[in-house]
Amino acid sequence: MCLIPLLTRREILEILIKGLQRLEYRGYDSAGVGIDGGNSKDWETNAKSIQLIKQRGKVKALDEEIHKQQDIDLDVEFDVHLGIAHTRWATHGVPSPINSHPHRSDKTNEFIVIHNGIVTNYKDLRKFLDSKGYEFESETDTETIAKLVKYMYDNRENDDISFTTLVERVTQQLVGTSCLCVLHLAGGTLSYCRLGGSPMLIGVRSDHKLSTDHIPVLYRSCKFKSLSQMLSLFKCTITTVSCSTAKDKKGCSTLPRAAQDTCLFPVDEKAVEYYFASDASAVIEHTNRVIYLEDDDVAAVVDGRLSIHRIKRTAGDYPARAIQTLQLELQQLMKGNFSSFMQKEIFEQPESVVNTMRGRVNFDNDTVTLGGLKDHIKEIQRCRRLILIACGTSYHAGVATRQVLEELTELPVMVELASDFLDRNTPVFRDDVCFFISQSGETADSLMALRYCKERGALTVGITNTVGSSISRETDCGVHINAGPEIGVASTKAYTSQFVALVMFALLMCDDRKSVQPRRREIIHGLKVLPDLIKEVLSLDNEIRKLAEELFQQKSVLIMGRGYNYATCLEGALKIKEITYMHSEGILAGELKHGPLALVDKVMPVIMIIMRDHTYVKCQNALQQVVARQGRPIVICDEDDYETIKNSSSTIKVPHCVDCLQGILSVIPLQLLSFHLAVLRGYDVDCPRNLAKSVTVE
Ligand code: G6P
Repeated sequence: MCLIPLLTRREILEILIKGLQRLEYRGYDSAGVGIDGGNSKDWETNAKSIQLIKQRGKVKALDEEIHKQQDIDLDVEFDVHLGIAHTRWATHGVPSPINSHPHRSDKTNEFIVIHNGIVTNYKDLRKFLDSKGYEFESETDTETIAKLVKYMYDNRENDDISFTTLVERVTQQLVGTSCLCVLHLAGGTLSYCRLGGSPMLIGVRSDHKLSTDHIPVLYRSCKFKSLSQMLSLFKCTITTVSCSTAKDKKGCSTLPRAAQDTCLFPVDEKAVEYYFASDASAVIEHTNRVIYLEDDDVAAVVDGRLSIHRIKRTAGDYPARAIQTLQLELQQLMKGNFSSFMQKEIFEQPESVVNTMRGRVNFDNDTVTLGGLKDHIKEIQRCRRLILIACGTSYHAGVATRQVLEELTELPVMVELASDFLDRNTPVFRDDVCFFISQSGETADSLMALRYCKERGALTVGITNTVGSSISRETDCGVHINAGPEIGVASTKAYTSQFVALVMFALLMCDDRKSVQPRRREIIHGLKVLPDLIKEVLSLDNEIRKLAEELFQQKSVLIMGRGYNYATCLEGALKIKEITYMHSEGILAGELKHGPLALVDKVMPVIMIIMRDHTYVKCQNALQQVVARQGRPIVICDEDDYETIKNSSSTIKVPHCVDCLQGILSVIPLQLLSFHLAVLRGYDVDCPRNLAKSVTVE
């Protein structure tokens, strides 16, 4: 955030800390701030004594640490204060205060860097800088950037080197998949740079009418006479929030070109506040008007005016960055009466699936309209195959809907884990259609797979929950699942909405095929009754809590099923391992005899999913096999399946729905079970250890 006149240092810190707290859901292990430290009347002097305060663990711990600082007067009021903040998710070096961001160039804190991404050649750079006498404090790749800037600055051929040139030279030395980075100079300047893949946005707040809704992007660079001349142009209050975990090609950042050279945001400078962040939730309480940066954009605020530049011009560059209005309310991000975001999100599913279908499924005439695909649907219908690519829970949504897609599109459908898809250099052709399913729209593996498929000429389709995310922007077309913000690291409502979105797509693909109309109508009816059936499943919550009380001290849980419900097993097992840290495996019941049966005895907890679909008889066989090994399976089954109820030691009875949607109803008991198990085991449901909501590193 910048240019809010006469804020105290305390207020700036509050904005930063709150911003970091809003990003907590993404997962992190440490946090830090850099703030101007002195109490002189002269802001430049203060800026030269930047204080770094860093803590392992929660943002709350960082906040407490800040308030312990004796030598920083928090109530000092100037028209300029500087601050940046960051949460880190460890990639190089253990979580610790020293490894947390911001990192500094030297003991005087001349250059301060926060960074999302990975610099893969950091070891070579570090060796070089070590040999030149630069002393490293941390084990991180990011610190290399800070030291490299200093090295290049110290070794500049003349004093006239522009900061832009300096930073561009640094950028050229960085290899890897590093993406965005902030450089913050002790002289009082800040710029934000997006260099590939990682989300980056600027919130714009003004009580006055803005004279434009677009920020033109400039390509010109300009030289400063000296660094001090450039620094004097950046007298503004700036705070920035960023969250680590990204990764991509190059790293680093640059400072803006001179003020006279920039294309300015033409409003009264005192009337606009800018909030720089890597996630809309960090800025939404200040403004819902945002500008998303593209790769290679450098944004800077100079004398209260925003400018955006391109590091390099490439074909197809956008001439301007539009200000978009986010439809995201702060209360949507709050927990309400629930103990955790995950619990809230599980209970939101009757509404979130309606939101996914709203305006798209017409239950009066059995039609489906997907505006985001309308220009491409004919091309998709002519394609050679569909490839669904995703990670984690989103991958399971692909597995769950593969069969109905194959049935209704009559096309071969591959479902791929993005990392494995890339590892195999999977052949992709121009007549393939590749779907990228991603709640966040930012998952690095999925994003790289998207670029891989685009290079090979395939049509790309995004199924995301995040408007403006990289995947939604870079795909040719797509469907927003509209599930609302999902904050719990363990994905729940996004899964069921992705499921519904893919079923809607399957229905759209066959809307003019006469022979499938009865089946289409059956599925559309299933979609219509789905929200009420989900409510019925949620009413089993108490029963499931009791089951969790019986299971929570166990070490392992096996979950078995097949057909439409194989994905339910995978997803249920993932939920359990993610948040309860119990070992859990989703097992295809058809594979039982080929290994997993050896695990079954009278102690091993086994959950089986047996629904009245075409695999019913085979599932009954599996049940018998488990019972014959003295297993005592807990069975999720249709509420009127008396046969299964009779043969099982305990059951969770769910309402019946059309076979291809049943997986939505059978997964919810497992979401609830994992939630209760985690609570009983005393774990933080929303922030499981070692995991991040949005994995923007490979
Ligand atoms: C992380 C999250 C999972 C999520 C996966 C894919 O691992 O913890 O909940 O399923 O990323 O994320 P995406 O945003 O691409 O759906």
